[in-house]
Amino acid sequence: MAFASKSLALKSTVQLSSGYNIPVLGFGVYMAYGEEVIDAVYHALKTGYRHIDSATLYENEKEVGIALRKWIHDTGGKREDVFFTTKIWDTDQGYKNTKKAINWSLRECDLGYIDLYLIHSPNPGRELRRETWQAMEEAVREGKIRSIGVSNYGIKHLKELETYATIKPVVNQLEVHPWLTRKEIVDYCQSHDIVVEAFCPITRGLKFKDPRLQALVKKYHKTPAQILIRWSLERGLIPLPKSTTPSRIKENSEVFDFNLDKADVESLMTDEYFIVDWDPTNVA
Ligand SMILES: NC(=O)c1ccc[n+]([C@@H]2O[C@H](COP(=O)([O-])OP(=O)(O)OC[C@H]3O[C@@H](n4cnc5c(N)ncnc54)[C@H](OP(=O)(O)O)[C@@H]3O)[C@@H](O)[C@H]2O)c1
Repeated sequence: MAFASKSLALKSTVQLSSGYNIPVLGFGVYMAYGEEVIDAVYHALKTGYRHIDSATLYENEKEVGIALRKWIHDTGGKREDVFFTTKIWDTDQGYKNTKKAINWSLRECDLGYIDLYLIHSPNPGRELRRETWQAMEEAVREGKIRSIGVSNYGIKHLKELETYATIKPVVNQLEVHPWLTRKEIVDYCQSHDIVVEAFCPITRGLKFKDPRLQALVKKYHKTPAQILIRWSLERGLIPLPKSTTPSRIKENSEVFDFNLDKADVESLMTDEYFIVDWDPTNVA
């Protein structure tokens, strides 16, 4: 399912197949630690972001929880107003280990429940993926997690999951940007009611000088990051830009006062297969 991008706002949400709503703009926290990430998440919440994307691998679930509770304390906001995602790392997969990993994450973030728990990658192989999913389904039934999904899954992994899942994945989180469009996986997910989240949506700045991007910067009077974040939204993806810089946190949220023409969305797409982070979508 793709959502209509036209009338979105920073607090807009889209309904997941679990029935819960996910805010259409996420806030990434990879490679941010300690006080820096506490300040960044607090600032993001004050700016209006309501969706934080963490992972056990990032070693900052605790700091995200601290920032969120501080925001609740200072503003009277509610836990339910913020969508918190974390992910099980590859080495924790398997039935028993997953149960331990979920309890660990719950203790670390201290937020009562996890909104979305993702399998970080399909790397550990078929049997461990199956056991991990089973333990995640049990955690949903126990009320520890609200929705479950995957990350870096290719179509073959999604089809495999369909053979045993009793709870459907709500999300597939993938690296997506104009230099890695993922058309086939995105189409498959959107036609199976799986929301696609885009990681590295602004390519960590690596493609900001691309002439086609620069042409749109001039046309729309927006920054490269804003054009790229809007590009994700126009495709019905949920972008997860990360920043610990207050001015950039604000800049990246100011993407709801313009639309990209369909032709411009398409004009940015390339077949380059440019990987910023990693790509396990083809592993066995
Ligand atoms: N599931 C997965 O396997 C996976 C893999 C990678 C990432 N992720 C998730 O996706 C999130 C985003 O990906 P990412 O952090 O790798 O890359 P990204 O969001 O594309 O780029 C982040 C980098 O760009 C800089 N930046 C942010 N806004 C900017 C702006 N407006 N102008 C110029 N530079 C800007 C940031 O610097 P400052 O912080 O210094 O401002 C940071 O170095 C992660 O944080 C994580 O939550 C998931």
